[in-house]
Amino acid sequence: MTEHLTVVNHPLVQHKLTIMRDKSTSTAGFRRLLREISLLLAYEVTRELDLTTTTIQTPMQEMVAPTLEGKKLALISILRAGNGLMDGILELIPAARVGFIGLYRDPETLQPVQYYSKVPNELDMRMTIVVDPMLATGNSSVAAIDLLKQAGAKNLRFLCLLASPEGVARMKEAHPDVPIVTAALDEGLDEHGYIVPGLGDAGDRMFGTK
Ligand code: URA
Repeated sequence: MTEHLTVVNHPLVQHKLTIMRDKSTSTAGFRRLLREISLLLAYEVTRELDLTTTTIQTPMQEMVAPTLEGKKLALISILRAGNGLMDGILELIPAARVGFIGLYRDPETLQPVQYYSKVPNELDMRMTIVVDPMLATGNSSVAAIDLLKQAGAKNLRFLCLLASPEGVARMKEAHPDVPIVTAALDEGLDEHGYIVPGLGDAGDRMFGTK
């Protein structure tokens, strides 16, 4: 992936995202759309998985056919909203190894505070995809990727639903080697660090909390 930022402009992604943004969409609807959109985004973010070949027997003849190479990829969810994106991707890549990083945003400083971390081993040999629906200030994403690099990850991707220009710039400065895949690049952040026009609090919208 040569681009630092890829916006997935596929019509189905854009249509589903519009319904998710709409504040009248129910929790159940939001969750279903998030699952659907995550499958489409997963297609894009895994585009550069390495392939090798294997010899199989079709009902007609022997053939040398493509198959994924190397260690199973690692999916890392930034709790809690990352789980909504991850659930769909796991349907597509059920053998992926899964990790969780718990970070909350201090509402005053907007800085990330880590409260949990459990990640797969041998990260140096896996494509590692970090998932968090909202790339807002970029502080949590940068902190999560710092932690994953310390754990050995080298081949990283960041997958989100919405990104802000501020978050993209922060990631590019701290981790220029980590490509970002998103469904949209929004206008900016409000004074609380929320993405505008955005979709509100992704965790609250998917879990029905407030
Ligand atoms: N987290 C959210 O859930 N929404 C935003 O707009 C920013 C961060």
